[in-house]
Amino acid sequence: MSLYLVTGGLGFIGSHLVDSLLAAGHRVRVVDDLSTGRRDRVAGPIDLLIGSVTDAPLINAAVADIDGCFHLAAVASVARSNEEWRETSAVNLGGTVTVFEAVARRQGGPVPVVYMSSAAVYGDIEALPLSESGPTRPLTAYGADKLACELHAHVAGTVHRVPTFGLRPFNVYGPRQDPQSPYSGVISIFADRARRGLDIAIHGDGHQNRDFVYVADAIRFLSSAMQAAGVSAPVANICTGRTSRIRELAEIILRLTGSPSTIHHTSPRTGDIPRSQGSPALALQLLGIRAETALEDGLLRLLQDAGENI
Ligand code: NAD
Ligand code: UD1
Repeated sequence: MSLYLVTGGLGFIGSHLVDSLLAAGHRVRVVDDLSTGRRDRVAGPIDLLIGSVTDAPLINAAVADIDGCFHLAAVASVARSNEEWRETSAVNLGGTVTVFEAVARRQGGPVPVVYMSSAAVYGDIEALPLSESGPTRPLTAYGADKLACELHAHVAGTVHRVPTFGLRPFNVYGPRQDPQSPYSGVISIFADRARRGLDIAIHGDGHQNRDFVYVADAIRFLSSAMQAAGVSAPVANICTGRTSRIRELAEIILRLTGSPSTIHHTSPRTGDIPRSQGSPALALQLLGIRAETALEDGLLRLLQDAGENI
């Protein structure tokens, strides 16, 4: 039994990670500022510290007796990162450096840190599938900060001997993802609207595609990465390597829900990337796993867990 710190542990992905760590018999400490996190997402016993990952004294105390850290806290809204550039960078990059530094300086010596980067580091690279050894060209403050986190992970490893593992999730979906914001993931929006019988709006012709990852798969990557963290600061995609078109996604959701909702098309979203597909090869090599849940199976699980979408 280990004690893990999970930053952002009351968020969409973080709360599933906390559940999984508790189910495996571990003890869990969470640091979350409740900005998008919700206390009622986690039912099990946790040591909850309400505060920010940018608060160095809080993070220094939070890492004092841990065996490892999962760092997920971030302003995950890409749109907000462009509107509130400095403030979100202070969290997305500054918070990560705060965590790395606290772990580097802790009395018992460094422990592994698994942190969330993002597929947003690739930006508009057109050569598919997107691979970790290929170029990065982030288009947003969010993507730029996530790439900078990866650079700081190298510093953490080479200068301070902190073992890390960075993960670049593609489009993660599942229960507890908030459908309310216009910047919510497309699956949470479509599923919510289909359930309520409201029309579904596809931006553009719907031929654009994405590599959708079911949240339970993302949790397996996080857990495996804790064992694979190293001072060479490895980074790997969380992706399936398969893509689905947005039009096809909408049709599957309507079929699975039996919803009377209709689909209509609006003008394309500015800057919308036409295609996104990750390469699962390096993750398979480093972690021995791949994201396997087929889209339709993941959607069924999401729809069955309707009551869990809090
Ligand atoms: P989320 O918004 O549901 O979770 C983020 C959590 O961090 C929330 O609980 C929030 O309250 C907390 N938080 C935010 N700022 C904080 C701060 N300053 N101090 C402490 N806590 C803070 O988002 P999510 O989708 O669960 O994302 C989790 C991580 O995965 C993030 O790092 C995100 O960038 C990354 N990610 C997510 C996706 C995706 O598809 N959901 C894709 C790529 C990367
Ligand atoms: C994700 C980020 C986005 C970021 C981009 C680049 C999320 C929720 N969004 O966008 O902020 O800029 O990665 O890394 O993580 N769609 C519709 N109708 C809707 C909602 C969406 O047709 O109601 C379409 C979008 O136009 C897009 C696709 O669905 O083509 C997926 O959208 P979304 O879930 O926002 O993810 P990304 O576009 O991949």
